[in-house]
Amino acid sequence: MKSNQSNIKKAKKYLNKNYCIGIPTETVYGLAANAYKNSAVKKIFNLKKRPKNNPLIVHYHDIDSLKKDCLINDNFTKLYKKFSPGPITYILQLRKDSKISKYVTNNKNSLAVRFPKHTIFKNLLKQLDYPLAAPSANITTKVSAVKAKDVKEEFGNKIKYILDGGACAIGIESTIVNLIGRPSILRLGGLDVSKIQKSLGFKVSIKINSKKKITPGQSRLHYSPGIPLEMNVTNPKKNQAYVLIKKRKLQLSNYYYLSKNNNLRETAKNLYSCLRTIKNKGYKSIAVEKIPDKGLGKAINDRLNRASKF
Ligand code: TXA
Ligand code: MG
Repeated sequence: MKSNQSNIKKAKKYLNKNYCIGIPTETVYGLAANAYKNSAVKKIFNLKKRPKNNPLIVHYHDIDSLKKDCLINDNFTKLYKKFSPGPITYILQLRKDSKISKYVTNNKNSLAVRFPKHTIFKNLLKQLDYPLAAPSANITTKVSAVKAKDVKEEFGNKIKYILDGGACAIGIESTIVNLIGRPSILRLGGLDVSKIQKSLGFKVSIKINSKKKITPGQSRLHYSPGIPLEMNVTNPKKNQAYVLIKKRKLQLSNYYYLSKNNNLRETAKNLYSCLRTIKNKGYKSIAVEKIPDKGLGKAINDRLNRASKF
């Protein structure tokens, strides 16, 4: 449903009844439900086929609503002022008197929180008296959804409602920063780590492949279109779809452009849609040309690397 006021009202009705709905964010679409209600949160895990030990991100409208559930600290305040709302998720200490469902956190005492920038999502959160747990709206290990129709493709009639907010502006998930103790990065994403470091005034360690698996979502296979994918390919095989970020003189039918001029923002924005399209065209494998490992390129390569473990 297009996201006008009357549809936001309908979305609210479904959420109040403890249903899960699809919602647009600036990063990827989310599968949202009331974070305070056990029965609503359990539905998210079932629909996504998500292991129970993989905690969810909770989305808040503002810092006042967050303070009811989490303890904040100076590093948080600095980053919040600079980057929220936007593509950054903070791991904070959960308050003992928080109302967050124990299924969101898998009974742990930390919580992942985010302040989404998409106007429709913000508007919806403002009208609710609870925050929304919302993982990416895809079946576990699969490619995330960046358009309303992708959410439909993932869940079909199993969900009652999807708010259509157009194509996601960023196209890959938020950057996750753990702010309990010394800050560290748990997932690369839409916000460049160098910007986070600059704002904090010190270097943060990157723990995206930590053996301790602080973030269960660091699992090896993730973001997979469901067919093999190779990275850094210069000579694709004839029957492979070839994913490119620089314009070629020749235009072959198996060429798929994320960008034509090496633009990494555009590349991130088009990535998941492109992988979906290729899979739906019936290709049996994907070759991707080398993507520069800097800025957003690092997050893009992280996704491709996990997708290549198929
Ligand atoms: O951009 C995004 O962050 C999107 C949109 C919908 O907001 N959400 C998203 O959620 O990517 P999800 O569930 O697909 O990924 C959340 C990641 C998972 O890898 C999970 O393990 C990690 O966050 N996570 C959640 N709670 C955590 C916690 N308390 N400590 C460490 N990692 C946590
Ligand atoms: Mg996800």
